Amino acid sequence: MITDRSTELGALLTNSVAGSKSPCARFGPRRVLQASSGSTAVTNHYGKSSAKPAISSPERSLKRKQGSANKMSKSNNGFGVLDKIGIKRFGKLSAPGVMATVYEGLDTTADQKVAIKKVAVNDLWFTNLERGETEGLKATKHPNIAKTRTLVVQHKAKSDTKGEYLVITDYEQVRKIPKETFREYKVELVVSDFIEGENLQVLIEDEALPDANVPMAIRIGIDVASGLSCLHNNNIIHRDLKPGNIMWNSQSEQFQLIDFGFSKSVGKEDLTKTSCGSGKYLAPEMIKVIYGRRGVSGYGQKLDVWALGATLMGIAGGKTPESFSEKGVVDTPRIGQDFRNILYFGELNDQEKMDYIKRYFNDVYLESPGLVDLIILTLRGNPNERITAAKACEFLTLLRDNPTLRFPLTSA
Ligand SMILES: Nc1ncnc2c1ncn2[C@@H]1O[C@H](COP(=O)(O)OP(=O)(O)OP(=O)(O)O)[C@@H](O)[C@H]1O
Ligand SMILES: [Mg+2]
Repeated sequence: MITDRSTELGALLTNSVAGSKSPCARFGPRRVLQASSGSTAVTNHYGKSSAKPAISSPERSLKRKQGSANKMSKSNNGFGVLDKIGIKRFGKLSAPGVMATVYEGLDTTADQKVAIKKVAVNDLWFTNLERGETEGLKATKHPNIAKTRTLVVQHKAKSDTKGEYLVITDYEQVRKIPKETFREYKVELVVSDFIEGENLQVLIEDEALPDANVPMAIRIGIDVASGLSCLHNNNIIHRDLKPGNIMWNSQSEQFQLIDFGFSKSVGKEDLTKTSCGSGKYLAPEMIKVIYGRRGVSGYGQKLDVWALGATLMGIAGGKTPESFSEKGVVDTPRIGQDFRNILYFGELNDQEKMDYIKRYFNDVYLESPGLVDLIILTLRGNPNERITAAKACEFLTLLRDNPTLRFPLTSA
């Protein structure tokens, strides 16, 4: 049972800054409590609990038949397909959201806990956003990325009536689906490694982060930038980076990226134009794409770097760029004030950003001017002038070891 998570995270912080392991392993299993009767109680975000049967040894010994996973499988629902390959579903982990409901599960073949996400979005999203969750399969094993294991995909024309599902366990299978027919499939279920922990948004709302948030921002930033850098090296843009999609893993004691629903394969230099993402963390170039502003050729990997900067600014100072401006740009009447503020903040030069940050949270600047430099480097309006995720990771690691370090800005 967690009694004082703030203290525990504080301990993590102190220890991680000192470069050693923390006692924070107790932080995670808030939602999963082992009952003495042999059953497991699962509590969801509302705090309700539901009993589920203990995992029996015959289930554990169930072996997945190699090869069958690649074939079409008939069942009256996607969960039935998972059952056939030895993946059991238990209670809900998340309140049903607009996009998905997530369940706890068990891969009986590997005897490993999993998270099963039932994607609730309609076909339109999948068609527009293309492969989305499938990109998770491509992300190589990395300590700061939740591992996607299996997808259950359904052919639209055969849905409901024929109950045919395709089980995909690696990205090569995705590649084999002909491009022209790919859009006829929709992802129904996503199975990933289970993370014992909590998402960063909940930690922030529960005030579980310690008050001195500068070292925490550095600590989180290193993990997130490292995961992002791996995605970008694999030519994947996450496109929905925000605290709600970053999870604290209490077992590995790392923050991990989750939720590849909006992810897309985009090469290092390539640009794309689909509108997606989440309000406060949207980069200026995405807002320009959404509102069809002239002269915008799209966005690329640096989109995620802006969201990293907005997240770090929120953790360190409690403010994100959308709540920052006093003026907002004037030539965009159709755009809401919050998005104007983001555009406005993006257009400020480094010195002006520095002045803003000092005015709103001088204590952050006094504690770590280098973190403010880093945030400014990630929140440059022009993506070409924004640092890469790999560079951000390198700088944050230097800052962790030497908090008084500064990074050169062009005009500050
Ligand atoms: N691998 C995992 N292990 C443990 N919990 C997970 C895992 N993946 C997701 N969750 C839980 O489910 C929540 C929602 O997951 P995710 O972000 O993938 O879905 P979503 O599409 O954003 O859903 P929503 O519409 O509810 O935001 C997470 O915030 C986390 O609490
Ligand atoms: Mg999410």
